[in-house]
Amino acid sequence: MSASPRDQILRLRAAIQRHEELYRKKHAPEISDFEFDKLVDELADLEREFPMFAGPDLGIGDDKSEGFQQADHKAPMLSLDNTYDEADFRAFGDRLYKALGGTGLEFIVEPKVDGVAVSLTFEKGQFVRAVTRGNGARGDDVTANVSLIREIPRTLKGAPDLLEVRGEIYMELAEFQRLNQLREAAGEPLYANPRNLAAGTVKLLDGEEARKRRLSIVCYGLGACEPASAFATLKDFKHKLKAWGFPIRDDIDVQQGVDAAWKAIQQLDVLRRDLPFPTDGAVVKVNRLEDQRRAGTTSKFPHWAVAFKFPPDQAETILRKISMQVGRTGAITPVAELDPVLLAGSTVARATLHNADEIARKDIREGDTVRIQKAGEIIPQVLGVVREKRPAEAQPFDFEARLKELGLDATRDGEEAAYKLRAPSREMKIRRLVHFASKQCLDIDGLGDAVAEQLVDLGLVNVPVDALSITTAQWRMLEGFKDKSVDNMLAGLAQAKQRELWRAIHALGIPNVGMQTAKDLARHFKSMDALEAAQPTDLLVTKVGKKGGVSYESVISGVGIEVSESILSFFSDPNHRDWVKAMRAAGLNLVEAAAAGSVEGVAGKTFVLTGTLPTLGRDEARDLIEKAGGKVSGSVSKKTDYVVAGEEAGSKLTKAQELGVAILDEAGLRALLGS
Ligand code: IVH
Repeated sequence: MSASPRDQILRLRAAIQRHEELYRKKHAPEISDFEFDKLVDELADLEREFPMFAGPDLGIGDDKSEGFQQADHKAPMLSLDNTYDEADFRAFGDRLYKALGGTGLEFIVEPKVDGVAVSLTFEKGQFVRAVTRGNGARGDDVTANVSLIREIPRTLKGAPDLLEVRGEIYMELAEFQRLNQLREAAGEPLYANPRNLAAGTVKLLDGEEARKRRLSIVCYGLGACEPASAFATLKDFKHKLKAWGFPIRDDIDVQQGVDAAWKAIQQLDVLRRDLPFPTDGAVVKVNRLEDQRRAGTTSKFPHWAVAFKFPPDQAETILRKISMQVGRTGAITPVAELDPVLLAGSTVARATLHNADEIARKDIREGDTVRIQKAGEIIPQVLGVVREKRPAEAQPFDFEARLKELGLDATRDGEEAAYKLRAPSREMKIRRLVHFASKQCLDIDGLGDAVAEQLVDLGLVNVPVDALSITTAQWRMLEGFKDKSVDNMLAGLAQAKQRELWRAIHALGIPNVGMQTAKDLARHFKSMDALEAAQPTDLLVTKVGKKGGVSYESVISGVGIEVSESILSFFSDPNHRDWVKAMRAAGLNLVEAAAAGSVEGVAGKTFVLTGTLPTLGRDEARDLIEKAGGKVSGSVSKKTDYVVAGEEAGSKLTKAQELGVAILDEAGLRALLGS
């Protein structure tokens, strides 16, 4: 018996909410966009048929996250309705002709770039802010990270007084692959696809990390515009965008009528395989802005534009074996080892299976023929099993039994999807030690990969702190370690023990605590003791809204719910508290030095750097400020104390002026630093 419509609706809503959360918040989707869209469409159909069971709006697509200031869009940022086949698409055309009457509709057909929508606001020709779509009316201010995209022009000659340029931020496939190669080399889990990595990067609070990843943008749309009469057609607007220097797609051919538009869609289906960015469809828009206005919009979609989704590439192949991949934190990911097959232009031999539940839900067995799909993501998905082709002897996959066979002692707690190693593997021990000793942590001279491997293999290091208490006699056990090298190592360790507090914090390897967060934590708590003893209320302020809803506010910039939970859970583990004890016993510095170079008027103050300074490089300026006890942040807010502006300072300067933040030039900064 099949489920009642009410149950179907409830189940669909729960599934959609879960996948939405995985996609927006965790940037780690388990199903393809195509499958997700199908769930949403299915729900819409059911709720239309049984309105008595329909629930409140699910708020799909709202990307707002904590840690960001928000800004209103002057014109709403709408989404697009989807079409999946020719009949769907022609129905869109018919509706338009009916609504607008007469003939002669013009269309522009563009690739649908799979990235994150952003609205760039220009006031009197000056770039002032970049905001994500959010709920369409209000989104997150991501100016700091978007400013890292050099291709965006900062000043527009002859621009309307107010202009919102809409576009898509994406990551080029080559950049995505470069970053994943680095991840692989570091033994970290791979990013799932360029879209999620682009979204994650735009939302990074750690500007230093954001700088390491190259984002791109393509601009395609017009938001608010004053005066409204500035442009007559989309084609004109795109030409203007090009003249101003915005990256746009060059194919601005106008298609006369639905037949021509349909042809252009099909051409794009071929072309898209060679585009440097991920696409999952075409967008068809009415060219004349007057026609757009007449066609109007719903609360979610314009009537004058539609997305055509290309069917994702699929293939069938045999799953030979399920292997287990162990990540840096000990999380285990099952991987399908496949008979190699050609899919969307590349040979696929492996696919992720996500976790044990996923294998059980789809009843995937070794020897099965499976359907795999690549839809935007680089790592293919296993959609399901072709039951008719299952070999008679195929056995249900016993995840725990396989772990045991492989000698992996793993477990998972109720809430978690992934099994985790109970004790760290050799690989993990080595990687943690290398991290601990790296330049961005304790910076222990001479302790790299080769030494770390030996220390772990000799059983001298189980947890990184062990390295601090290795004796002279033990160091001599390492290959090539004679008097001289042992002396050097001991000298290196002695130096490492005197370093700043943030280095010790970063060295702990607390999940989600990168270098910038470690610095912020050191500045705030001033000692490892205080950090270790931190209570939830020391990290977050809880606010109860009028309607009883609970929200959280960060106490320390960049430390939201996820990071807070990570810190609290880290120190709740007695093993980790033992690490801190061992650090203390080894004589490692665990307090924020009343900064030797601390300068009154700078210590504790927040600075933002913008533009090019006459003699100081960015990193130099940052170093000087930090040495004097100040903090450098990427974006201007009410909390900013000083903006240091050089040549070609952009929106940050404007914003500082608006907020009345003190502005310094290089000479002013030097005077403040007393140098
Ligand atoms: S036009 C009201 N053009 O697709 C007009 N959107 O599924 C809506 N997208 O939110 C935007 N490439 O983030 C437009 N060439 C393109 C696009 C595009 C990608 C995104 C955009 C939009 C989403 C809708």
